[in-house]
Amino acid sequence: MSGSNKAYEKGSMGRLKHVVEAQQFDRESMADIFTVACEMEQVVQHYGSNLLNRRVMATLFYEPSTRTRLSFESAMKRLGGDVVTTESAQEFSSAAKGETLEDTIRIVAGYSDVIVLRHFESGASKRAAAVSPVPIINAGDGPGQHPTQALLDIYTIEREIGRLDGISIAMVGDLANGRTVRSLCYLLSKFEDLHIYFVSPPVVRMGDDIKGYLTRHGIRFEEADDLTEVASKVDVIYQTRIQRERFGDRIRDYEEARGLYIIDAGVLKVMREHAIIMHPLPRVDEIVARDVDSDPRAAYFRQAHNGLYVRMALLRMLLIEGTA
Ligand code: NCD
Repeated sequence: MSGSNKAYEKGSMGRLKHVVEAQQFDRESMADIFTVACEMEQVVQHYGSNLLNRRVMATLFYEPSTRTRLSFESAMKRLGGDVVTTESAQEFSSAAKGETLEDTIRIVAGYSDVIVLRHFESGASKRAAAVSPVPIINAGDGPGQHPTQALLDIYTIEREIGRLDGISIAMVGDLANGRTVRSLCYLLSKFEDLHIYFVSPPVVRMGDDIKGYLTRHGIRFEEADDLTEVASKVDVIYQTRIQRERFGDRIRDYEEARGLYIIDAGVLKVMREHAIIMHPLPRVDEIVARDVDSDPRAAYFRQAHNGLYVRMALLRMLLIEGTA
């Protein structure tokens, strides 16, 4: 992954051009986004604005989604913009006829002012950004990255814990295939004095590329296998789903991985009082709903709501000059 390609960085006027990978953000640009996101909470309370009136956002989704697509669409509409959309693009778009991603992007860019892309291939958003005359937002590229999720995750930690520097966080579950944890690691590496615990079944450990990146950026991390012990020490537990769709016919591996790390009453009991549980959702069986949902430390629904404000902020910054 290169942070040096200008197409993926902030433009020369301090304007955000595309959102393709988490490495393109630094503390300053995150702070800018979060300031706008806070304003967006007010905008939503006052029933929206007309800031993006007559602008059109296209959502092009080749993989399933509820939260990401609807929160982007709601974000655009709450800012007065319009939406055109293809879900199941793999089946229902011209991809089914063999059209390349690049051609689809060139066409859709003629119909819209910004494209939100979810694709099954790692690196798809980068390819799209290389040919697109309009901003591309990566809404998840296979097992690659999910930068807007990571931004809303950092926003949530800041709001819930009050700081990022000095926190300890456990990432739990499918760390090999989960794109949210990968993007989150890139963003966390901008902060100081962190301690990350990776708690995952052996078949889905965090990749060496991310571990190498954290090491180069001086972030302390360790792999652990006792969730209860880790849970008693951290400020944030970031639970994830075992990504069934990435296992192909490795059913045995999947069965081995699922159900190994579950957040239940036992974990709640040892967690610190101020700590929070996050999850990008959807959850399958890795959080026992009955025990956990009513605990004030369960932050995952608040986290999902924050996605709306952060995505509104990104759309405003991508589409309106000088708001970064
Ligand atoms: C995540 C994703 O799509 O990567 N979902 C989301 O966008 N909130 C997590 C997942 O699918 O497990």
